[in-house]
Amino acid sequence: MKVAVVGATGLVGGVMLKVLEERRFPVDELLAVASDRSAGRTVRFRGREVPVIGMEAAIAARPDVALFSAGGNTSLEWAPRFAEAGCTVIDNSSAWRMYPDKKLVVPEVNGAVLAAEDRIIANPNCSTIQLVMALAPLHRAYGVDRVVVSTYQAVTGTGMKAVQQLENERRGITGEMAYPFPIDRNVIPRCDVFTENGYTKEEMKLVNETKKILDPAIRVTATAVRVPVTGGHSEAVNVEFAREFELEEVRRLLREAPGVVVQDEPAKDEYPMPLLAHDRDAVFVGRIRRDDTQPRTLNLWIVADNLRKGAATNAVQIAELLVAQGLVARPLATT
Ligand code: A2P
Repeated sequence: MKVAVVGATGLVGGVMLKVLEERRFPVDELLAVASDRSAGRTVRFRGREVPVIGMEAAIAARPDVALFSAGGNTSLEWAPRFAEAGCTVIDNSSAWRMYPDKKLVVPEVNGAVLAAEDRIIANPNCSTIQLVMALAPLHRAYGVDRVVVSTYQAVTGTGMKAVQQLENERRGITGEMAYPFPIDRNVIPRCDVFTENGYTKEEMKLVNETKKILDPAIRVTATAVRVPVTGGHSEAVNVEFAREFELEEVRRLLREAPGVVVQDEPAKDEYPMPLLAHDRDAVFVGRIRRDDTQPRTLNLWIVADNLRKGAATNAVQIAELLVAQGLVARPLATT
């Protein structure tokens, strides 16, 4: 298969290359795609240097699948053009997620919604992916009624410029700022831009994407916070169910959920943390306990590597599912 990674010079794009390689995705030819600014650069794939090409050249090469992580505007403009050329696009930006005719997919949760006619498939927001991975098995068992989520999001979620800002601040160097404030020795209660209702876009992504993936009846309220962590998002989650639960059964359901790892031995100081989740594909859940202030309510702590399951791994898993179900169309040969 001919596979394009659009945004191959970026943080998520780099992890996509690594994950494609690790999971032995059947890549016959890799197209490393970025903006014209990257002309002349190469990226490493399977031990070889692959030249970076531009968007027009990538379309002309007619890839079967394109993994996009080059920002929302790039996706809005270019994903339809790749799709018209017969390519199936898996888009990591927020551009297409809420379009009713576009699928928003976490393979372990709702992979069954994929169909042969899907040409642009949306990868959910990193914070949403790890949240719905833990909520899905519990929703099936007890019916999630309401979710209160507070996030502790790493700077890699913003991109390379933000990682540079944190590193500069730690070294005492002044440089370009990705955030309006210092992030080292600080927390910033703003991820993405504010919307008219006083919430940020990131918070509204958690609300709307969770509903779209799991159930529109679930009520979600969110506070998204940037913290001086390089990689790995954490979430404190309060979940109110429609039906009564047993803690032991909650633990069993989470342990049995594919892609979820329970780390919950408080006596041994075992709980999920970004450092432990680094470079791993699972979603880690711990601090599982009852909220005693009201009935049928649970507290959870959820951590995942935002560049992996929160972005690259989930996108590659969608591609794997397309291949397994024979849903990737081979474009017509150019004449
Ligand atoms: P480039 O390196 O050429 O700017 P990050 O979010 O980590 O900064 O990465 C963004 C990725 O998206 C980079 O690979 C970047 O390429 C790519 N990108 C940004 N704008 C465009 C564009 N207009 N066309 C193609 N790729 C783009």
